[in-house]
Amino acid sequence: MIHKVKGVVARSKGAPVTLETILVPDPGPGEALVDILTSGVCHTDLHYKLGGISDDFPFLLGHEATGVVSAVGPDVTDVAPGDRVVLNWRAVCGDCRACNRGQAQYCFNTRNATQKMTLEDGTELSAALGIGAFIEKTLVAAGQCTKVDSDADAAAIGLLGCGVMAGLGAAINTGGVKRGDTVAVIGCGGVGMAAIAGAALAGATTVIAVDIDAKKLERAKELGATHTVDSSASDPVEKIRELTGGFGADVVIDAVGRPETYKQAFYARDLAGTVVLVGVPTPEMTLELPLLDVFGRGGSLKSSWYGDCLPSRDFPMLISLYKQGKLDLDAFVTERITIDQVEEAFEKMHSGSVLRSVVEL
Ligand SMILES: NC(=O)c1ccc[n+]([C@@H]2O[C@H](COP(=O)([O-])OP(=O)(O)OC[C@H]3O[C@@H](n4cnc5c(N)ncnc54)[C@H](O)[C@@H]3O)[C@@H](O)[C@H]2O)c1
Ligand SMILES: [Zn+2]
Ligand SMILES: [Zn+2]
Repeated sequence: MIHKVKGVVARSKGAPVTLETILVPDPGPGEALVDILTSGVCHTDLHYKLGGISDDFPFLLGHEATGVVSAVGPDVTDVAPGDRVVLNWRAVCGDCRACNRGQAQYCFNTRNATQKMTLEDGTELSAALGIGAFIEKTLVAAGQCTKVDSDADAAAIGLLGCGVMAGLGAAINTGGVKRGDTVAVIGCGGVGMAAIAGAALAGATTVIAVDIDAKKLERAKELGATHTVDSSASDPVEKIRELTGGFGADVVIDAVGRPETYKQAFYARDLAGTVVLVGVPTPEMTLELPLLDVFGRGGSLKSSWYGDCLPSRDFPMLISLYKQGKLDLDAFVTERITIDQVEEAFEKMHSGSVLRSVVEL
């Protein structure tokens, strides 16, 4: 059976998104059909719309979602109809070189649905991050469904599906922040703010939030920042050094992903410190650094895809911390919107007033 549902599509580079009728097939082997409850608007959706990720238009946007499984393919045993799930874009294969050496977070062969969702005229859609969740019903690989408790707010825990997990994981998993560390986070959107919360959760004693938007810096204090730096008004490298006894921070996280913010991160860390790039650059960006500085300053320069998370390990653990009151996921949900308001949500991203707009279906 083919399901006819409404979904948000980016038809061509830069064009405003449109609400379209989409055809979703029943799940085949290894697949699951999920009724979406909530889906957060992530900056990566905007990157897709602007053609910053690939040219495979049209895209079905949305990927930070909670839902209820409505049907599964014949061979699926891990999830069943009725299960509450958070969707993930790292369904590991269990059999590639990375998985086999116990580093499944780097899986080279992650799973997505095999069948395609299409427009009414048969045009195949590229689902954002292999999910596509600004839609009433979506088709994913069964492994993309991480089973979670059904008694937590769907809008809040759904954010673990991308941005909040990416930020928390950038601090805790990739950056390895530990008790007593000094940490700076450049860019305080949903991802950077989660990195701040993650650094605070891990026991960092100094957590410096850097942004060009004063409103974001106010919010950062509520999520665990001990200091804030407005980098539109002063040099963040100097400020971070000042706030860390002249040394620089142990871990600096770039949650913007531009050459200039990366350079700030690179020079704002202490000798032998760690830089984590979690913001996503666009294809035309290049970076120039004196190689002697790369050598001489030591330490490590890391990238963080999805916060190096393993969904089945990390989502339930973080939801447990949320339910215990140790991780404030509610703070990330600024507004709840309807499926026809995604374009407005993209505009609000620039106004600085919103951490996450969450579409409720
Ligand atoms: N690596 C991953 O797995 C992953 C996952 C999700 C999102 N992302 C990426 O993370 C980045 C942030 O996403 P988001 O949803 O938080 O975006 P957002 O738009 O909500 O936030 C971006 C923040 O950066 C600030 N900013 C912009 N330019 C700046 C500059 N020059 N200096 C300091 N601050 C600056 C903005 O004021 C804003 O607060 C995006 O590039 C997104 O694609 C990466
Ligand atoms: Zn694998
Ligand atoms: Zn995302």
